[in-house]
Amino acid sequence: MTQSLTIRRPDDWHLHLRDGAMLKAVLPETARHFGRAIVMPNLVPPVVTGDDAAAYRDRIMAALPEGMSFEPLMTLYLTEDTDPVDVRNAAESGLIKAVKLYPAGATTNSASGVTDFDKVRGVLETMAEIGLPLCVHGEVTDPDIDIFDREAVFIDRVLDPVRRASPGLRVVMEHITTAQAADYVRAGDETLGATITVQHLMLDRNAMLVGGMRPHYYCLPILKRRDHRDALVDLATSGFDRAFLGTDSAPHPTHKKEAECCAAGAFTAPIALSCIAEVFEAKGALDKYEAFVSLNGPKFYGLPVSEDTLTLTKGPAIDLPTKIAAGADTVTVFDPGQPLHWSVS
Ligand code: NCD
Ligand code: ZN
Ligand code: ZN
Repeated sequence: MTQSLTIRRPDDWHLHLRDGAMLKAVLPETARHFGRAIVMPNLVPPVVTGDDAAAYRDRIMAALPEGMSFEPLMTLYLTEDTDPVDVRNAAESGLIKAVKLYPAGATTNSASGVTDFDKVRGVLETMAEIGLPLCVHGEVTDPDIDIFDREAVFIDRVLDPVRRASPGLRVVMEHITTAQAADYVRAGDETLGATITVQHLMLDRNAMLVGGMRPHYYCLPILKRRDHRDALVDLATSGFDRAFLGTDSAPHPTHKKEAECCAAGAFTAPIALSCIAEVFEAKGALDKYEAFVSLNGPKFYGLPVSEDTLTLTKGPAIDLPTKIAAGADTVTVFDPGQPLHWSVS
């Protein structure tokens, strides 16, 4: 029986670090384990230009505690006014590694996102030409579409047409939550990848809604039925090399989660690697763990695999952190609802 796992140092291909006191509080939780992360640009106001991204990267590096190593992989927030020349320059200088598409109004801080895809055609053409990935929050915002169907409808109505109209465009389907998305990424070619979160691999919507409503499990895209979760676990643990860990660790102050109108997002960074190990072990797939957390992401993004290693050790159930301080607020850490046995040493 495997009791210890030494792997290349993992990366997080979808992460929210926020800014200010929150950034300072949550950054060490990621940098303790992960070597790099694709940093989401949905600040208020969003990270829109190359200059914005350079300034945000400097704030992240300034917030990194002495002695920790971490490389933020910056992204730009796609708006209908995004300048293709700025995108090209920011990519060619090595500053940004992706552009993020939020359909306007789809999720936390997405008000400046895209409504009319014709307006971003030029940017997408530039990105296809230079091989810069488009990271996509894949949900429609049509009020007539049920929240549980918004991802599947997005694939048919938006994602597939956009990919057909922009041949060669590299796309990452972020935080996929459905069997339809798992099937779509499997059927795609080498230009299509997908990230999967901790919570979507561990939980279904019953965990959020049965016996009381658990706000810390509320994130977008919303948790789905059990069979969708099973499809995601199958994809992640199969060794399929275009699926990789993107925790979507998304901190909000506890008072904004435990509220009449709860903010969307789960803060998983401190325990993400332990959670994923538990999922892979339950499937008898620990031999595929390193590919999912450390190898597939760099391969898709065309980046080198980490030279550092990290060891996970199996033991008695670990004590789970509950809250961390962030300025005057606290952030509540995701509770997986089951004991975790793998700790990072
Ligand atoms: C994210 C956030 O809080 O920024 N929330 C979430 O529920 N996933 C936004 C996002 O990734 O959609
Ligand atoms: Zn999202
Ligand atoms: Zn996110």
